[in-house]
Order: sequence, then C-alpha cells, then structure tokens
Amino acid sequence: MPPRRPRRGPGHFVRHVRVEERSDTGRYPYTLPAVRALGEHGLDLAAGVTFLVGENGSGKSTLVEAMAVACGFNPEGGSQNFRFATRASESSLGDRLVLSWSGRKPRTGFFLRAESYYNVATEIERLGLVPSYGGRSPHERSHGESFIDLVNHRFGPEGLYLLDEPEAALSVRGCMAVLARLAELADQSCQVVVATHSPVLLALPGATILEVEDDGTIAPTSYDDALPVRLTRGFLADPRAYLRHLLADGD
Ligand SMILES: Nc1ncnc2c1ncn2[C@@H]1O[C@H](COP(=O)(O)OP(=O)(O)O)[C@@H](O)[C@H]1O
Ligand SMILES: [Mg+2]
Repeated sequence: MPPRRPRRGPGHFVRHVRVEERSDTGRYPYTLPAVRALGEHGLDLAAGVTFLVGENGSGKSTLVEAMAVACGFNPEGGSQNFRFATRASESSLGDRLVLSWSGRKPRTGFFLRAESYYNVATEIERLGLVPSYGGRSPHERSHGESFIDLVNHRFGPEGLYLLDEPEAALSVRGCMAVLARLAELADQSCQVVVATHSPVLLALPGATILEVEDDGTIAPTSYDDALPVRLTRGFLADPRAYLRHLLADGD
C-alpha cells in the first residue's frame, strides 16, 4: 500500500479555553471585562487561524499571553524551549487557564509578541538557532524582515502559533506576505491565534474573527463588521471628514 499522505487542512489542537473556578483575585487581570467574560462563558477555538480584534486595552494581549503560558510557551515569547526572562510582567491567568486539547499534539510552535521580540532575537543568537530562522540573526535584520524570516523559515507544518500584533513591525506589503504565509500554514495542519489590528491580515480566507466587545464579550464577527476593517474603510473613504472631527479645536 502506498504511504498515507499527511492530512491537509487546518490544524485543531486547542479546542476550548476556560478559566479555573475561584481564580478571581479581584485584581488585574480578573477585573478586565474580557477575562470576566472568558470566566463566565469560556471560549471555543476553531481550527486553523483565529484572529482576535478589539480596542487598545480590551485585553487581547492578556488573553494571548495567558494562552501561550498555558500551552507551555515562555511568557516573553519564543518556542517551548525558550526559558529566558528579562522582566516578569505576565499575569497569573496563564496558570489558571484550562485548555481542552484534541487528541493530536502540535509538532512545533511559537509565541510571537512584537514588543519583546528583541529579547527573543538575543536568545536565538545565544542558543545558536540562527540557521533555523533563515540564516541571518534577527538583530541584523529590520524588525519587519526578522518577522517575515520567522514565519517563513521557523514556522512549519502541524504547528501551534500564537502571535500578538505581528503587524506592529510590518509594512502593508509585509502584512500581505504574512497573510499568504498564514494561508499556507493553515493548509499544513497548523492552528494559529493572532491578536491584530490589521485589516490586511484579517482578510485571510477561512479565518475566524473574534471581537472583544466593550462589555468584554468575545464573539465571532465577519470581515466586513470587524472593528479594524470598518474604521479603516471609513477613514480611507473620507479622511477629511475624520480629520475635521479629530482635529477640531473644540470651538
Ligand atoms: N501587568 C499589568 N498590570 C496591571 N494592568 C495591566 C497589566 N498589563 C495590562 N494591564 C491593563 O489591562 C488592560 C488590557 O491590556 P492588554 O491585554 O495589553 O490590552 P490589548 O492587548 O487589547 O491592547 C489595559 O488597560 C492595561 O492597562
Ligand atoms: Mg496588545
């Protein structure tokens, strides 16, 4: 019999996330509406790529970081083998999340947070891992180039990836390149959770978009209704109207 071909299509490793009962300390992060909503309802995660959108301060990074910690990643970013810590600022939520895993385990994974990638880059050099990241140290690449190296060279099939605002370093063209790579990864049995404000990334076909609403509810939405898409479209359709409002001197 010919060898069976590897399964194609989106990966599904983590199916559901909930918060352990009696975790609420009455302080950050349990005071955040999004964490309260997660505590009350839990969250289903779809196969393939899930985007998390919402205003600044709505709790996206808190949620992605906690999921990363619960999956065994270093809170400051990297793969499951990275253990460095420059400044512990993670919330305790990661230790109180209960993940429901499907039977299959990811073959590889990575937690990318734009704000601390510098430290991850130092660790990549220190551990002698530069060849797996495209052959050039992230410190010798622009911030955006190093992200693109990461997703192109280090990310691979059957991986579990958590990305916090990957667009922070990327040009619009860079976002398009990452979108194309995410499509490939989804087709290679990967599961990816991405907190983002990028209307370009959000256009990925087949992705699930979850929006953190003002009351903390985390609900599926469509591309056209997603906050970054609506606002960017509105602004680009008539920048002057927005500028009149934004720059009004109040009289
Ligand atoms: N270590 C911390 N201690 C206390 N409050 C925090 C901490 N980190 C974030 N916050 C607060 O939690 C809220 C959500 O932050 P964050 O998850 O980073 O939001 P987002 O990523 O959606 O912009 C913010 O209002 C922020 O001020
Ligand atoms: Mg954030």
